[in-house]
Amino acid sequence: MAAGMLMPMVRFAIDPVLKAGAGGDFIPTKQKVDDLTTEPVRVDFQYTQKDAWYESEVTNTAWVYLDEAGEIVALSPVCKHLGCVVDWNTDEANPNKFFCPCHYGLYTKDGMNVAGTPPLGPLDLYDYKVKDGYLHIGQIKPWEA
Ligand code: FES
Repeated sequence: MAAGMLMPMVRFAIDPVLKAGAGGDFIPTKQKVDDLTTEPVRVDFQYTQKDAWYESEVTNTAWVYLDEAGEIVALSPVCKHLGCVVDWNTDEANPNKFFCPCHYGLYTKDGMNVAGTPPLGPLDLYDYKVKDGYLHIGQIKPWEA
């Protein structure tokens, strides 16, 4: 009887792991990789989020550009202070920076927080891959020091 009671709880706890492709999926975007330049562009992507019995369509965003080596950089727009959304190059007093309007947070183009502004850490980076010439966005990956 105990096993009968425990199984649903165990199943619920590990269900996301059992789903096909869970955790490792890359989400396709409409961004052609050949169109990327060194100027960050906003790339939106959509996916279906399942929370228990509730399913919803979620739109998320990445700021994407090519670095000096020609490598793709895909940054999360979520400010590391209190979670507002940053924008590129919208603060006239601080050109060519990511700007968070909530408390005037600033980040350099590579996502590093500017000292003296509220954020205490860099913007997160997305994993990504290129498939058929289009950018696919993956999971947030930790910064490597
Ligand atoms: S939430 Fe971005 S600076 Fe406070």
